[in-house]
This record gives sequence, structure tokens and C-alpha cells, in this order.
Amino acid sequence: MAYREKYGSQIKNIEETMGQRNMGISGSGTLDRHATLIADQLVQHRDRLLEPADIKVLRPFSFKETCHWIGVNQNSLRHTLRTNPSLPQGTMLRGTRRHFEAVDIHAIRDHLIEHGRLGPGDVTCRRAGEAPAVIASINLKGGVGKSTSAQHLSQSLAMRGYRTLVVDLDAQASLTQLFGIVPEREPDMRTLYDAIRYHDDDEPEGTGPVDIRDVVQTTHIPRLDLIPSNMQIMEFEHETAGHDQRRAPFFLRVEEALAPIRDDYDVILFDCPPQMSFAVMSALFACTSLLVTVTASFVDVMSLGTFLGMTGEMMSVIEQRQGERPYDWIKYLITRYNPTDQPSVQVAGYLRSILEGAVMTNEFYLSTAIADAATTSDSIVEVDPSTFHRQTYQRAWDSVARVSGELEALIQSGWGRDIHGA
Ligand SMILES: Nc1ncnc2c1ncn2[C@@H]1O[C@H](COP(=O)(O)OP(=O)(O)O)[C@@H](O)[C@H]1O
Ligand SMILES: [Mg+2]
Repeated sequence: MAYREKYGSQIKNIEETMGQRNMGISGSGTLDRHATLIADQLVQHRDRLLEPADIKVLRPFSFKETCHWIGVNQNSLRHTLRTNPSLPQGTMLRGTRRHFEAVDIHAIRDHLIEHGRLGPGDVTCRRAGEAPAVIASINLKGGVGKSTSAQHLSQSLAMRGYRTLVVDLDAQASLTQLFGIVPEREPDMRTLYDAIRYHDDDEPEGTGPVDIRDVVQTTHIPRLDLIPSNMQIMEFEHETAGHDQRRAPFFLRVEEALAPIRDDYDVILFDCPPQMSFAVMSALFACTSLLVTVTASFVDVMSLGTFLGMTGEMMSVIEQRQGERPYDWIKYLITRYNPTDQPSVQVAGYLRSILEGAVMTNEFYLSTAIADAATTSDSIVEVDPSTFHRQTYQRAWDSVARVSGELEALIQSGWGRDIHGA
């Protein structure tokens, strides 16, 4: 009895639990409760990582990094800054080292472009007659680096000077969160859904799509804008199913929504969810190029085949109605690649041998620096390099720089320029 007095509440708990177990565990009730527990914990975890006042701020870049972003060597940049004292000269960080903010880097580049001092590949803005590159980071498989690639590539392109818009299409909103936005905290946040939704004739006025300009957000990275996502994008699926497709075909919604801002950008990059949807098909229709991320594993290569077959079939249905829309390029990017893992090397070689030169030359390396940075929603561009082992960081940075450079050449080839022989 004393035992029951002392541990009464625990015993009662156990009795209740046993009682529940005898009656069976309610599927809906239990899963719902577990979902709530996890959601609460996640929000708390994120709140700790990202205090409301702690909005993302981009770090300054070293002299060497600045040279990389502009596309000049160090002697040349030193000479430019010496002979043009009105250009930003950088600020001293940690005693002796000159660092530059992103806006300063852009100012120096713009000056060099204006004076015809950069090579054609480093003139990272569109010229007359060059249409924006609209690219989807896509694969139906989850965990193959779609969002990580979209994050790193959009940030690298913006730092290189391209006016870039990155669009999150995934209801899970990983990319949105990588930009420091927690959808749960902003229930009224506008997303692509608000711009692509149909006019609702049954509802009072004002329940149609909004101007895409009211959906785009600036980010902490100059020249990089974001269209965030949340669960609402799923509404588009339900509404499309019940909508008269002769009046407003679903596959034109994204293209039409983007039309007013398309010319404000050099590159528009979609981060797709790991499933096919009307919104994804609509984005694919608006795209000029496809970037299919794939890991070098046989299981992923098998599911890649299924995905490609299915997507091809769905596209042919749209093409029958709307005519063919040729892409500038379709490329496969091998992600999370470990060049010291023999099976991965073999699968990568196999992919290259069968996909007729469509696999990108450079792989996105698997790196603890990328994974560690992701725990604070940062990219390798954003993190402070001094917090990493130097070689680990450099290896990840170099991999991102090579992939991004190859992507730039592809983008410019789409503009009709032949820069690096892409
Ligand atoms: N190159 C990489 N090195 C290390 N971890 C990576 C790399 N690319 C992706 N990851 C990690 O793998 C997981 C899945 O990547 P993610 O980009 O979210 O895939 P997807 O968008 O295709 O579902 C994430 O935890 C991410 O941080
Ligand atoms: Mg993703």
C-alpha cells in the first residue's frame, strides 16, 4: 500500500496505459498525438536556433573569395582597387585581413563590366535578346539533394551577380526553412499558391490570385529573392481537379503568374517536391531547362528511370494540346557524391556511360561541412569558414564552385553564348 501511496500516479499511468493497450491503440489518436509532440519539439528546436530577432545576415567575404565571386585574380583586383579609390576598399576583419560585403562585391563587378574589363563568362547579367534561364531542380525521390542544390546554386549564382529568384514548390518547405523562414510561425505568409490559384466564381470578389510581386520576398543575400512555400500549395491540387481546364489550364498557371517579373531576373530556379503534382507539371512547363539531381546508388538510378518515364508521358499529354516546348538543356547532377566510395564511383560511371553526355562533369560532393552547416540552415556560402576544419571546408567549397561554374556555362549557353565550351 505504501508503495501505491508513493508511486500512485505512475501506477495509475501504467494502469491506464495497460487499459489502453487492452483496448488496442487508436491509430488516428496516437499518430495525431505523436505528430503534435514532434511538431511542438521541432518548432521549439527551431525557435532556439533562430530567435525572432536573429534574422539571417550574410557574412563578409575574404579577398580571395571576393576574387572568386567577381572572376578576377588577386593582383588584378588589388590593382583595380588601388587605381579606383572610390570603389569599396573592404574592411579589416580579424586584424589584418580585408573583407568585402556582398553589395561591395557587386559594385566592384559592375564597375569592371561597365569598363569592359571582365571576360565574357564573368559578365553575369543578361544582355538584350537573352531570355532568363528558368530551371527546375527535380527528381521524384526524396533526399537526393534537390533542396540543398537549389540552396547552394541559387546563392552562388546571386553572389556571382546573376539576379536570381528561387521558388519553393514543396509543401514540406525545406528550402523556405533553409532561408530562415519557419512557415509554422507565419501562417499568413503568401506562397506561390496565392499567385497560381484559380479565380473562384462562387466566392466574393478578391478571392482570386494575387500579383506575384506580393509573393516574392527579398533575402539576406543581395540579388537573391525567394518565393516561399507551405502546406497551402496542396490546395492547388484539389482545385485543379475540380476546375474547368478549358478556361484556365493548370499547366499555364505558373508561367502566367511569373510573367510580370520574369524580366527582373537572370535565373529562376524551382525546388520541386519529391512527387509529381499539377503544380510541378506547371512549373516544368514554365522552365527552359531541367536539372535532375541523382545520387550515385543503384536504387536511386532505378527510381530515376521510373520518374523519367512517367514525366515524359505526362509531358507528351500537355505537348499534344499545347505543342512541344523544347528545353535548352536537360542535365543530371550527381549529388552527395563520395569519390572514395568504389560502388558510388561505379554507379556514376555507369550513369555517364548510358546518359549520352547529359550527366554534368562535376559532382556535388558529400561533405560533413555541408551536412553540419545544414543543421543551422546554412549553406557552405553562408557559414563562417573558420568554424570548420580547413580542408573539409575547402573541399566542399570547391565542389560547389565547380558545379556552380558548370551551371553558369549552361545558363550562358542557353543565352547563345559559348563561354567555357559547355
Ligand atoms: N552534398 C551533401 N553533403 C552532405 N549532406 C548533404 C548533401 N546534400 C544534401 N545533404 C543532406 O541530405 C539530406 C537531403 O537533402 P535535400 O537537399 O533535402 O534532398 P531533397 O530536397 O532531394 O529531398 C539533407 O539532410 C541534406 O542536408
Ligand atoms: Mg527538398
